[in-house]
Amino acid sequence: MALNKRRHRRGRDEVVADLYHMLGEMEGVASPCCPQDAAVHALQCASLAVEEGAGAELVAAALVHGFGHHAGLRAAAPLAPPEVVGARWARERLGLEVAWLVMAQAPAKLYLLGPSGRAGREGETGWELSLEHLVAHPRWGDALRLCRWDEEAKAPRARTSSLPEVLGELAPLLASLPATGGDPAVLPGVA
Ligand SMILES: [Fe+2]
Repeated sequence: MALNKRRHRRGRDEVVADLYHMLGEMEGVASPCCPQDAAVHALQCASLAVEEGAGAELVAAALVHGFGHHAGLRAAAPLAPPEVVGARWARERLGLEVAWLVMAQAPAKLYLLGPSGRAGREGETGWELSLEHLVAHPRWGDALRLCRWDEEAKAPRARTSSLPEVLGELAPLLASLPATGGDPAVLPGVA
């Protein structure tokens, strides 16, 4: 899918620099998902996506899926849930598809609980009422895959690609980004 170049605030080189910066910030920080380094968890998640032959947008979403938990980003939007913070970060750099996948991980996890698992959680996440529409999205299956990799990317000794290796997988996506930043996109629910 061609990306609208006007939908990015950051240019290609800035996006790569931002990814290095964020992964660097996450080194040594406990992941909110599991008892291991947040940067390792992100790279393991991306590695699993690569191993399954995921496209560049989905690999990118796997890599940045937890960025919304970054303390600095949360501080700038304290009322926004992590998936929205992360989607906003992704939208400005990697496009709407990646942003949607990052945002969809929260309702996808809720969906995977099944009706009985969701019982009593109505209103807790705010996504319950949106599930009916989200499951019809063409990338909903990828959101579920992202959730699975997130669960699997918690093994300390699992193969972990380096960021340069992951960036190699993102080459088609990075090549589609504008050389310089443009206007932000509008993604419903991600102001
Ligand atoms: Fe995670």
